[in-house]
Amino acid sequence: MTLAHGLDPAPHRSWSADPYADALRTGRGPLYLRRGDGWLLPLDVERWCTRADAVDRALLDRCEGPVLDVGCGPGRMVAELAARGVPALGIDISAAAVARTAGLGGPALLRSVFAPLPGEGRWGTVLLADGNLGIGGDPAALLARVAQLLTPGGLLIAETAPLDVDERVSVRIVGPTAAQSAPFPWARVGTPALLRAAARTAHWRPIAQWSAEGRCFAALRSRTGSSSAEQAKSAAVISSQRPRNPSADSVVADV
Ligand SMILES: C[S@@+](CC[C@H](N)C(=O)[O-])C[C@H]1O[C@@H](n2cnc3c(N)ncnc32)[C@H](O)[C@@H]1O
Repeated sequence: MTLAHGLDPAPHRSWSADPYADALRTGRGPLYLRRGDGWLLPLDVERWCTRADAVDRALLDRCEGPVLDVGCGPGRMVAELAARGVPALGIDISAAAVARTAGLGGPALLRSVFAPLPGEGRWGTVLLADGNLGIGGDPAALLARVAQLLTPGGLLIAETAPLDVDERVSVRIVGPTAAQSAPFPWARVGTPALLRAAARTAHWRPIAQWSAEGRCFAALRSRTGSSSAEQAKSAAVISSQRPRNPSADSVVADV
């Protein structure tokens, strides 16, 4: 497949490189993003390669279909959505990730989020799980791209870094062997930084923040530029999206 990658300068040299593909094939780490100064960010590849857990399922309870899982990895979220009968598509630039997602019965496409995608402007929810706000190393550009993908009033659900961080970095993927990817841009974004970035444009309305088992999340609704009737409908939908078992989540704020 020929990929048009747009803003993502060289994805074929990043997440499609051997250390990540090997980890996805075996379902095992260790795997890290390594900054130039040697600092290591562990990647939770074992968890990504299992079924959706309780925290994932509570997140998925909030989704409004159809759902686009950007950077779906080995596909636990897409597989869970498919099992629920929710229309969903995973996209990823790693062939190993797409193959594993398809193996779980989840529809998946080998494609960058910055390339042309099916259903642009019609997705009900875009998911950026497991730190995928980092994709492309430019959260503002990624938010702008997500706004293009969502239907007016659609939801972005993003997993944020569990600390107040806002950094752009150059990283390589490294594993247990000497093999490593080429360097590529990444970003680490905590909830406050995500909300600041979203507030810089007129596109977004934050609707919820929560945390569970050390993981942090934020939900933002794309603006419809709408009438009060649409806003009332939107408020009703938001309230219906609250988790069925709120005690499973530690809700930081519903705004
Ligand atoms: C931090 S991992 C997240 C894994 C994943 N969410 C899961 O459930 O296993 C980042 C994922 O994003 C993918 N990715 C990186 N850049 C991408 C891009 N431009 N478009 C789509 N996916 C991308 C990587 O291949 C990788 O699978």
